[in-house]
Amino acid sequence: MSKSAVSKLLTTEEDATSDRPQLASTRASDFNVVLPELDDAVSDLLRLAVPHEDIDAILACLPVLQEPGPLRWLLERCVHELTQCMDHPRIGPRFPTFPNQGKPVRRYFYVFVFLAMLPHLRKLHRQRGIPEHVSWLTLTDLGRRVAAHRRFHGVGGLRDPSWLVHHFTGTLYQLGRLQFQRATLDKRLGPSIARAGMPDRPGDPCLSVHIPDYCGPLSPQACDASFAAAREFFAKHFPGELYRIAVCGSWLLDTQLAEYLRTDSNIVQFQRRFTIRTFPANDHTILRFVFGTDETDLDELPRRTTLEHAIVDHLKAGRHWRAGSGWLAL
Ligand SMILES: CC(C)(COP(=O)(O)OP(=O)(O)OC[C@H]1O[C@@H](n2cnc3c(N)ncnc32)[C@H](O)[C@@H]1OP(=O)(O)O)[C@@H](O)C(=O)NCCC(=O)NCCS
Repeated sequence: MSKSAVSKLLTTEEDATSDRPQLASTRASDFNVVLPELDDAVSDLLRLAVPHEDIDAILACLPVLQEPGPLRWLLERCVHELTQCMDHPRIGPRFPTFPNQGKPVRRYFYVFVFLAMLPHLRKLHRQRGIPEHVSWLTLTDLGRRVAAHRRFHGVGGLRDPSWLVHHFTGTLYQLGRLQFQRATLDKRLGPSIARAGMPDRPGDPCLSVHIPDYCGPLSPQACDASFAAAREFFAKHFPGELYRIAVCGSWLLDTQLAEYLRTDSNIVQFQRRFTIRTFPANDHTILRFVFGTDETDLDELPRRTTLEHAIVDHLKAGRHWRAGSGWLAL
């Protein structure tokens, strides 16, 4: 397919993309890209924690992706690109984006890319000796992103598929309450880590910590267990990679939150684990994660919890939220 045909595929009347792919020059895979048959697809979707209300709509799209056609063409290129990134902690390919209100087959398109990736990833997990329960717990993030699409856009789809590239190329694992991504230290935390006398420098391996939603409170006990599990897990399954540092970039690490939350709240206790550097104002991130919206009419936002009150009061006072980035020694 030519570049202009790819552009056309992605810019039909209904669909436009801000992220023009270079996929026209990507070769097709040198292996057969296989999508599961209907029954197996149901089992896979359930194991990936896809919400029940989305399953029939996804299955209805399956025949389109099984037959030759433009979307099948794109699917094969995406799967090929992903398999090229397997097991390497680096930035994955940038895929085209579809509008979040388009046809179902486009909103759910990347669910099929990841279904087709499952056999490749599961083979890698087996080669690395990853326990079954860790493998499947990690992959339930796909269902979480389907739930997030509905929460944000009011219709089914897969929100932010590029996030799942980490999981489906074997660089991110959920260990209990937290997710750990094989990553490298960036420059911003370098001086603070050096001042603490650690030998790690920008570019060295580190684990990037993420906090999945829909997983209950961020209790200190659950976090202790996750960090302990991470130390053991990566030493055992990635013996060639030395992880001494964990980093985290999140709205949860904005130290201003401690002005509003109790000192024994889980968020404040989580912050205390890290040496934190905060970044310039960024109100959108906290609004998105806490309220699931970009809504800026403060009077429209719910104020049920201490955190929700704090976010609104802070903004009403003319102040701004920031993202924090922190590190800790494992
Ligand atoms: C991380 C998370 C589990 C923390 O929740 P927690 O363990 O209850 O945290 P705390 O104990 O510190 O909560 C303190 C207060 O803030 C409230 N709060 C915490 N997270 C909240 C959220 N996402 N939405 C609304 N209120 C929240 C709590 O209910 C509590 O208020 P209360 O005392 O009035 O009941 C929760 O914020 C969450 O699930 N977030 C979504 C995932 C996320 O944002 N990940 C980070 C991505 S960068």
